[in-house]
Amino acid sequence: MTDRELINIAVEASEKAYAPYSKFAVGAALECDDGTVFTGCNIENAAYGCTNCAERTAVFKAVSEGKREFRRIAIFADTEDYCMPCGTCRQVLNEFAPTIEVLSVRRDGRYVSYSLKELLPKSFSLND
Ligand code: THU
Repeated sequence: MTDRELINIAVEASEKAYAPYSKFAVGAALECDDGTVFTGCNIENAAYGCTNCAERTAVFKAVSEGKREFRRIAIFADTEDYCMPCGTCRQVLNEFAPTIEVLSVRRDGRYVSYSLKELLPKSFSLND
């Protein structure tokens, strides 16, 4: 699958966001090593702290379906600048895929790509 195809899936996933408080819809598309893709959106809650980000929704869906190896995740938010994963999501991604490629896509469709190693250097992980 091309980057652009994965990105399009993330854009579509953002339409499912439940974000009545922030009004900030985020979509994620997580590609497993076997090529399957799990989507995620952010899901907010009246008790704000219960909110789940799009990235974690996708990871938890995948892990709960038996997938633990991931190679790419595309993240889309309808914003001028790139939406980068929060610290909690970086840590959750790191548990399963410390070298995953992270694509962040902005409104105009342009995207940037990072290795999770760049986004979460010197992490605390399974080996510790
Ligand atoms: N959010 C995500 O889903 N992913 C990110 O990478 C950044 C933030 C969500 C959480 C919350 O619902 C809203 O965006 C505003 O923070």
